[in-house]
Amino acid sequence: MKIAIGSDHGGFYAKEEIIKLLSEGPYEVTDMGTHSTESCDYPDIAHQVGRAVAAGEYDLGILICGTGIGVSIAANKVPGVRAALCSDTYSARMAREHNDSNVLCLGARVLGMGLMGDIVKTYLESEFEGGRHARRVGKIESL
Ligand code: RB5
Repeated sequence: MKIAIGSDHGGFYAKEEIIKLLSEGPYEVTDMGTHSTESCDYPDIAHQVGRAVAAGEYDLGILICGTGIGVSIAANKVPGVRAALCSDTYSARMAREHNDSNVLCLGARVLGMGLMGDIVKTYLESEFEGGRHARRVGKIESL
């Protein structure tokens, strides 16, 4: 599974930890920055990850900023992106199973690293259920 990951400065350390976690496999992770704690603008990273996922270059994306709010708002501006801000594992599972979400957003200043890791794993291991949910996701896409 190919994953694109990105963060702003607020999510930089969390991104590094998540990349470490996912390097245990079975994931191929591409780091789209940022590469330091120097201040940067989250819409730039969110747009880059969102476009790459929407273009089909990656199966799923992960975006992290301080709250996760900025990256989720920005990523959802990219047609084809269904970014979900998750702070618990139930929402992470539902985001995949019911919403066919393709970009997970996380708040590094909101969540501890242990919970963030569980949310990431739950999201990546969950699958879209299709059926009635496919009709609803289709409606989202045609809005
Ligand atoms: C950066 O200070 C902060 O605003 C950003 O990481 C994020 O929380 C925005 O939504």
